Amino acid sequence: MRWRRAGTSRTRKRPRIRADARAAWGGTMKVGSKIIGVGMYAPPGILTNDDLEKMVDTNDEWIFARTGIKERRIAEAGAANSDQGLAASRRALSDAGVSPEELDIVVVGTVTPDMPLPSTACFLQTKLGANRAFALDLNAACSGFLYCLSVADALIRAGRGKNALVVGSEILTSITDYTDRSTCILFGDGAGAVVLSESADGEGILSCHLHSDGGLWELIHAPGGGTVNPFFPESTKVRTNFIRMAGNETFKHAVTKMAEVSLEALDRNGVTVADLALFIPHQANLRIVKAVGKRLGIPEEKVFVNLDRYGNTSAASVPIALAEAREKGRYSKGDLVLLAAFGGGLTWGSALLRM
Ligand code: ACO
Repeated sequence: MRWRRAGTSRTRKRPRIRADARAAWGGTMKVGSKIIGVGMYAPPGILTNDDLEKMVDTNDEWIFARTGIKERRIAEAGAANSDQGLAASRRALSDAGVSPEELDIVVVGTVTPDMPLPSTACFLQTKLGANRAFALDLNAACSGFLYCLSVADALIRAGRGKNALVVGSEILTSITDYTDRSTCILFGDGAGAVVLSESADGEGILSCHLHSDGGLWELIHAPGGGTVNPFFPESTKVRTNFIRMAGNETFKHAVTKMAEVSLEALDRNGVTVADLALFIPHQANLRIVKAVGKRLGIPEEKVFVNLDRYGNTSAASVPIALAEAREKGRYSKGDLVLLAAFGGGLTWGSALLRM
């Protein structure tokens, strides 16, 4: 390549920059990122539909028929979200054969942080001993893991690091209103993590697709604890710290948006559902999962479901499912796996992976 100096007719060779130096300052070398380790953690406490029957006016038959959920995991009162993230992260790191000191980036998707300040990612970083890494939280509700994955992938592609720990961890039961039968039956606790590492472009993450519509924020929100409605001693009584959801309306958007964003990923990469080994949707409700699968024309055996045992764990749902899918041998090296999620914000997203 040649460049022309202003005011002269002379041309000379553009200075050569070594590939490793280019990568170090985020230059043009084509790199991508690949998931090289997965891990999950589910707290041992279990809340069954029968347990909920004793708390609100509901029953196992209604819950299972309307959601597909049988039970969900419950963290102990006062448990730190970062401890759940730590357990899942250690498993992902061990699976990847990467030490905490080798991490450059720690990103945690959550709507239930340890505390408002500092980030849960900073707690996780220090608990792990990931001393070289920079750490950040990201709030995109149930799409949190896909948002984190996309950001970590972009940071690696931009040369900001080679190894990223991407975590989705939630203690949703801490913001669940156990007097509201329309929401308390849905949510559970847990964490999932992946190690994302620099790879050749075209391996691993093939593309990520993110969308938001803040105009629809009221569909799923927890109004208390921020600047608009700061916490005050009576917050718990007026229930402002708990999730409020317009379930029916949310349901419709979840189906439409997850189907659209899944097709976007397939179209971008010139593949069809026939090329997929597995589809891992956000585990919100079996009826949503089935409706999305139907719109995409994916056979049921290619759709991963574990919400019967965990309920909706928001940002943790997709990485928990990914870890379980790997453990159950639902995908192999080289397979195409499609992830999709939808959540409060509204937010939605997808990622197509070559495993
Ligand atoms: N037990 C018994 N009856 C119930 C219960 C319950 N737990 N909950 C609601 N009902 C009743 C309602 O009161 C209503 O009764 P009515 O007809 O007398 O008024 C009836 O059941 C039907 O209620 P709907 O709300 O229409 O029930 P629906 O079939 O929509 O199911 C549900 C509700 C499960 C919440 C569903 O709408 C849903 O899953 N929505 C999507 C949730 C979601 O995906 N959220 C994702 C993001 S979450 C996040 O970002 C943190």
